[in-house]
Amino acid sequence: MLNNKKILLGITGGIAAYKCAHLVRLLVKKGAEVKVVMTPSAVQFVTPETLAVLSKNEVVSEFFDTNLNWNNHVHLAEWADLFVVAPATANTLAKFATGVCDNIVNACYLSARSKVFIAPAMDLDMYQHPSTKQNLKILEGFGNIIIPAESGELASGLIGEGRMAEPENIVNFIEKYFSAGLPFSGKKILVNAGPTYEAIDPVRFIGNRSSGKTGVALADEFCDQGAEVTLVLGPSVFKPKNTNVKLISVESAEEMFNACVEVFKKSDIAVLSAAVADYKPKEVSTSKIKKSDGPVNLELTKTNDILAELGKLKAKQILVGFALETENAIEYAKEKVKNKNLDLIVVNTTSEKNPAFGSDFNTISIIDKHNKLVNFEFKSKTEIAKDIVSAIKAYADKK
Ligand code: CTP
Repeated sequence: MLNNKKILLGITGGIAAYKCAHLVRLLVKKGAEVKVVMTPSAVQFVTPETLAVLSKNEVVSEFFDTNLNWNNHVHLAEWADLFVVAPATANTLAKFATGVCDNIVNACYLSARSKVFIAPAMDLDMYQHPSTKQNLKILEGFGNIIIPAESGELASGLIGEGRMAEPENIVNFIEKYFSAGLPFSGKKILVNAGPTYEAIDPVRFIGNRSSGKTGVALADEFCDQGAEVTLVLGPSVFKPKNTNVKLISVESAEEMFNACVEVFKKSDIAVLSAAVADYKPKEVSTSKIKKSDGPVNLELTKTNDILAELGKLKAKQILVGFALETENAIEYAKEKVKNKNLDLIVVNTTSEKNPAFGSDFNTISIIDKHNKLVNFEFKSKTEIAKDIVSAIKAYADKK
């Protein structure tokens, strides 16, 4: 969500400035490009060098640098997709409210074309003071967004409201701002992916060739489009790139079943792309089974069908299944839509020409519960994930 977003961070002179090193780090980790401007007094609380290293950009705290080159606040303010001022002292709030322009942060504020987020931080009585309250109201009236101060122990030793919002909470505010208006904003989505491993003994298992690539790409795509995504992932080397995807790692079909049933209750949409084992060994040996001369008989028992269970539990959710077939793909898939109470099914076929498992490419078709069929071309699994997400969006919009 914050990938490639340009964030200008204005730091003013309060003790909470030290937390900005962590804030910059969090934003950069989320893929944002961060530039920092500081007031001269902020420099006494956290060094520009620290912030320059963390942001990978030059930090500006004066109108002119040491070689008397002018630091262009207008360009900085124009560059930003968002200007975040944290911590914002009582002094800065008053200056913003009245248009005083005596340092580079104030100049950026007055030049900003983007939204401005302001995270005030000050001591208890200062935060409660009618002047501060009025300045915050004025600033809100100008269209700025205030990230309220939090309660806790303050630098003076007093306890109460006035602490700068924690960096994680500031990042949440920013992410919510950027996700508003995205296609899946506000939607909770469950995705499962990967194979499952069914233990035979402590060293052996029954598994399958699923890589989990499509499901992981789906989780990333939904998240990039504003959804709150939980990915229940079997043993796979692939992991989501989007750090907002909530990852639950599981190994067996039973673990996957339990996690999915739990998450499904609070989901709006569930997409079950995992290649769940249909059978598991009836008994799991607690010690390694030793080799013997004769053949070994492994008794298998059925696992729970996660998709079928979610179909039974379904209330208002949109439920999407996958079908992997080698023959009569469309007919079998249509049966699965009915039998498992699905809204949509994504059909893959596996053959020598289109191996599906392990490959970076695939060919799919999508069938909805009214038997409407759409065939897609052979493409990369990342592009396939985008097609599936668009098809689900189109279905949800019509529902
Ligand atoms: N599935 C599941 N739990 C299982 C087995 C399958 O949730 N124990 C889900 C898969 O995630 C997929 C769908 O069911 O979304 C269809 O899987 P597939 O293997 O194609 O079909 P099955 O229902 O297992 O039937 P068959 O293997 O006989 O085709």
